[in-house]
Amino acid sequence: MGVFSTAGGTEPTGHEQVVFCSDQQSGLRAIIAIYSTALGPALGGTRFYPYANEEDAIHDVLELSRGMAYKNAMAGLDLGGGKAVIWGDPDRDKSEPLLRAYGRFVESLGGRYYTACDVGTYVQDMDMVARETRFVTGRSEAHGGAGDSSVLTAYGVFQGMRAAAEHRWGSPSLAGRRVGIAGLGKVGKHLTRHLLSDGAQVVATDVSQRAFEWARETYPQVDLVDDVTALITSDIDVYAPCALGGALNDDTVPVLRATVVAGAANNQLAHPGVEKLLDERGVLYAPDYVINSGGVIQVADEIEGFNFERAKLRAGKIYDTTRQILLLAQEEGVPPAVAADRMADRRMAEVGRLRTIRLRHER
Ligand SMILES: NC(=O)c1ccc[n+]([C@@H]2O[C@H](COP(=O)([O-])OP(=O)(O)OC[C@H]3O[C@@H](n4cnc5c(N)ncnc54)[C@H](O)[C@@H]3O)[C@@H](O)[C@H]2O)c1
Repeated sequence: MGVFSTAGGTEPTGHEQVVFCSDQQSGLRAIIAIYSTALGPALGGTRFYPYANEEDAIHDVLELSRGMAYKNAMAGLDLGGGKAVIWGDPDRDKSEPLLRAYGRFVESLGGRYYTACDVGTYVQDMDMVARETRFVTGRSEAHGGAGDSSVLTAYGVFQGMRAAAEHRWGSPSLAGRRVGIAGLGKVGKHLTRHLLSDGAQVVATDVSQRAFEWARETYPQVDLVDDVTALITSDIDVYAPCALGGALNDDTVPVLRATVVAGAANNQLAHPGVEKLLDERGVLYAPDYVINSGGVIQVADEIEGFNFERAKLRAGKIYDTTRQILLLAQEEGVPPAVAADRMADRRMAEVGRLRTIRLRHER
């Protein structure tokens, strides 16, 4: 695989810029990928992960940065899409010099890329990175940061689910509906609260006993089942994947009882074509990157100086965006995932084109 083509192919990946960053003394090996700056500086988190090899790291950063461009475009942000990976074991390799070296590389891009947290990086890491660069979000509240992004992620997922319910049943209320949540983590817990206060019945599962204990103590009215298979084959109206990616695949889609899927997990469709399987089975799928964008909306707000109410207002718009996508999908006879990609492409092209209107200071 080369940087200018996809794995094994000759098609260009479409990325604007891919930067390899190395600092031997601290052990930093990072790759920053900028997919698009059509809408503004590229925003996306830093994944710290022990990839098996360099090729896997490149593949991941190229895929993730493209995903961020679509997510940010549909979130209505004036931000493009980018992502970074640090190749290493976060438990073993993370250090002050490594994070600060990384911060200097982010700074060297002059604001073309803003970083944030992702798998393996946390708010305190972003506080450290911020000692070397201005172009960082997702810092701790003590440092003017937005704090835990799962708060608005869950709120946005709930809004997306309401829009899907409206499209399917004619009312945005989840009252009386049975919603199955797979994964009672940071997002799943907040989502449970929103659903119960709307009058929904919640059935949930997790692989962690602590999550079960939390549910028994906090919300005894939640039904708990052993695993995801038991959840998706039970009598639920809505399935909310809130754990790992690939939840919708050749094994799960055929046995799904829910007729709406709306959850927080990234990359829910295991491979291209699953969106068609869902459509054929009459399952309405609210595209993951559209309805889980509350978190990026929360951290993006930090760039202006964090204001929770402003960020919440923006995350609330996920309801309207999801409705528009579901209507477009219906009109154009395509699955909602395809309609979402089309809308994002259109916004990047239309708003991006405005940059061709030359300003006085541009020569
Ligand atoms: N936190 C955010 O702001 C945010 C934003 C966008 C997308 N997401 C995505 O949403 C999902 C949940 O994020 P989170 O922050 O709540 O993560 P988390 O790690 O806090 O929670 C995930 C939960 O899923 C459980 N889990 C793992 N494997 C499982 C399985 N096979 N079956 C059932 N449960 C399982 C874990 O035990 C954990 O309780 C992830 O896919 C994440 O990428 C999160």
